[in-house]
Amino acid sequence: MDKKKYILSVQPVSRSKKYQKPSFINKNDLQKTLVKKGLNIVLGEILKGGTVSQVYSGYLNSKPIVVKHTEDLVPFDPTEFFISKKGHNIDSHVLNLLAKEKKIKTPKIFRHFPEIATTIMEDMRCFGYELMSEQILKGKLLLISAPKVAKSLASLAQISRKWKNFGTNESAEQSIYERGLELRLAYPNTQKEYLTLEKEFVSNNQFWVWPDGHPKNIFINENGEVALIDFGRSCWGDQRYMLPNFLAHIVIFTLTGHLNKAQSIEYIENCTSSYKELESVDEEIFCQYLAMEVLHRTNGKWIEGVDNYKQKIKLYTFSLRVFDEKIDSVKKLLSLLKTCT
Ligand SMILES: Nc1ncnc2c1ncn2[C@@H]1O[C@H](COP(=O)(O)OP(=O)(O)OP(=O)(O)O)[C@@H](O)[C@H]1O
Ligand SMILES: [Mg+2]
Repeated sequence: MDKKKYILSVQPVSRSKKYQKPSFINKNDLQKTLVKKGLNIVLGEILKGGTVSQVYSGYLNSKPIVVKHTEDLVPFDPTEFFISKKGHNIDSHVLNLLAKEKKIKTPKIFRHFPEIATTIMEDMRCFGYELMSEQILKGKLLLISAPKVAKSLASLAQISRKWKNFGTNESAEQSIYERGLELRLAYPNTQKEYLTLEKEFVSNNQFWVWPDGHPKNIFINENGEVALIDFGRSCWGDQRYMLPNFLAHIVIFTLTGHLNKAQSIEYIENCTSSYKELESVDEEIFCQYLAMEVLHRTNGKWIEGVDNYKQKIKLYTFSLRVFDEKIDSVKKLLSLLKTCT
């Protein structure tokens, strides 16, 4: 294996790696450390949704806040990636870069302690926002949020194109290698499908990309307004990945029975056309990236609501049909979604 290319890739079982112990095993240790830094802070419940970090609700000077703390994510089996806590500081860096942008809403950072990978920030729930994945799991999909998510993602692409290059914790190679795992497994003999996308993702790396723009990292309020969080796993890669990556999740939750199909189709149409008002969309690559993300979640990886074989087979069938039938337009993709029962 090319070590430079797949730096944090799988380890053979026989050569299991030793990892550093985490610095804060629990909430109390973290709270004590923050108090020692002179803060009047109390940590409360741990919030749902984090797989890499621990995010607590809490109070700073009696005002509600959230505290995001990150430890190295040590793989629980040797085939899994190691995710360094260093990504935390990339998240805070991007939140700071976006803080003054009017077109993109993000939580304001109150304090950031890079040495302990901990950030204190606004609790978006205090402003009427709810995590989009929570809404979806309740069957709620606000159509008015479709153009707003589209505009946030397109603005993110445009604004970040002006940023000076900064080091990220992950490379484009690693990002697509992880997200394309299930695509690699689906076409084992040629790898044509994966290699095509890998080339696109890696060679179009002159700009920054947020590959985690899915409903677990997007907040929506009752007016459909949008706030974005969690940029730690971003990298320099293909920006065209962002829209299909998000919409793949609408497809996933539709095929698994959480969302109404007609509403989802309208949502995807609306979101795509709003995005096109600001950014161009290469529909062929859009369809392939979207199908790759559906495949990535087919077995329920780091996603709630994919629980049984019937749901998994639907996701698998949909995504393989996109590749097998060379679906290359949003219109054809939606026709396919319509026919998948
Ligand atoms: N500013 C915030 N306001 C309210 N809730 C938040 C905020 N930031 C994070 N959360 C909650 O904590 C969860 C985890 O946060 P975040 O996505 O930043 O961490 P993560 O571990 O990197 O997530 P992932 O699983 O996507 O890797 C979110 O899904 C959300 O429920
Ligand atoms: Mg997250």
